[in-house]
Amino acid sequence: MAYTLTKDLITSNSMIDSQHQQLFDAINALLDACSKGQGRAEIGKTLDFLSKYVDKHFSDEEKLQKQYGYPGYEQHHKYHEEYKKIIRELQQELSQNGANIALVAKVNTAIGGWLVNHIKREDLKMAQFIRENQN
Ligand SMILES: [Fe+2]
Repeated sequence: MAYTLTKDLITSNSMIDSQHQQLFDAINALLDACSKGQGRAEIGKTLDFLSKYVDKHFSDEEKLQKQYGYPGYEQHHKYHEEYKKIIRELQQELSQNGANIALVAKVNTAIGGWLVNHIKREDLKMAQFIRENQN
């Protein structure tokens, strides 16, 4: 099932929301490549794109947090680092073992599911703080 940016995931910060949409698109493209049984190289490309986009998104988001003196920055940064580590592990697994059911399951839970939870628990809170501290 494809990931969608449902109403409960909208932070109302247009930069963050549009980047989250791109991330969901990238996760869906990765899952699609896996489910179509595409080769390691093709799947690898979609995973590399996701990885690069995650780096960009987290760095943009963290810049915003620092700019507004968000008190939850340190913890939020740690969550982002954990996610980046999971993606790096997936890249290694893919290059070593290719795409298999375990990898697809991990993409669903550790990548897609994680992002949905992170938006609900962390990003909504952070975007609200930024909104309240904007002049
Ligand atoms: Fe975040």
